[in-house]
Amino acid sequence: MVRLKRCPTKERWDFVKIEDILQFLFEKEGEYVSGEEMSQGLGVSRSAIWKGISTLREQGYEIDSKPNRGYCLQNSPVGIEKTKLANLLKEQSLITSVVCVPSIDSTNTEVKRCATQGAKEGLLVVAEHQTAGRGRRGRSFYSPTGKGLYFSLLLRPHVPYEELMDLTAWVAVAVSRGIAQYSGITPTIKWTNDILWEEKKISGILTEISLESESDFVDYVVVGVGINVHQKKEEFPEELREMAISLEDVTKKDLDRGALCASVVSSICEMYGHFPQEKQKYLQQYRELCVTVGKQVQVLKGENRRSGVATGIDDCFRLLVRYEDGEEEVLSTGEVSVRGMYGYI
Ligand code: BTN
Repeated sequence: MVRLKRCPTKERWDFVKIEDILQFLFEKEGEYVSGEEMSQGLGVSRSAIWKGISTLREQGYEIDSKPNRGYCLQNSPVGIEKTKLANLLKEQSLITSVVCVPSIDSTNTEVKRCATQGAKEGLLVVAEHQTAGRGRRGRSFYSPTGKGLYFSLLLRPHVPYEELMDLTAWVAVAVSRGIAQYSGITPTIKWTNDILWEEKKISGILTEISLESESDFVDYVVVGVGINVHQKKEEFPEELREMAISLEDVTKKDLDRGALCASVVSSICEMYGHFPQEKQKYLQQYRELCVTVGKQVQVLKGENRRSGVATGIDDCFRLLVRYEDGEEEVLSTGEVSVRGMYGYI
């Protein structure tokens, strides 16, 4: 919010949110909007609009102005811009608020903090950088500034915990689809929810569930998604270089993280609207996308490692494995290495 100088003609303090001015400019991107139209629409003076435009220019927005025509947005700063993102997500009724921050410990941790303070379902937190990005199994998630997309979404499904067992797999389908809709390439899934391109990880998902204290009902769910977007191979730390790849490296296109975010979040919103009624459809898509099936795998349980073959995905999105000694197992969670991926030879 920009606090503006006293407006002499109206003898009142004039406040205008620069987000509201941006909203006008985004809605008419490429066209000129008059200062008069914005001042009437926002109920503030023309000088307030002018001051807001100056602030936006200081923040890196390129806004042209022409006498008798008004203002035209020509370029936005490089980071993910909240108003633009909120605008792209305006059709998604699930999204109740969008927060974009330059840096944070972890977007999942932030959404959990907000959830415990009563935040509404549909809070979306997006960060340019995470200082303590978290992955599954207590691992960290590499989150360099401006190179990836890091976001978390708060859900509050009022269902018992058992009904959410599949959600992680559904999210994987939604993320793959959201990436495909924006970039044109359809990534695959390594069970349960690593998103891959040709056996290298493009995206990871961390779903965290909190239960109500007195029941087995869900209090909230945080869906956290990290996508490698702009990194060149040599920009990944050495230990990740052979396992990870960025979407830009795959598509060879210039990508806009805000538009990618909108596409993936919209896909998650659509999926959530189908959950759990359209299970058969998501199960079929999961089976089509999951590259673990048919591969030699190693199943890790504590210090134990057993080799076998992944033979299928059952109706609860669990992985069927046949071990070398002929024994079969149905896995609902756990660490599974796939031969040929992430350094397992
Ligand atoms: C994994 O691959 O193990 C899961 C990685 C999930 C990373 C995302 S980035 C946004 C959100 N915030 C986090 O701290 N983690 C998730």
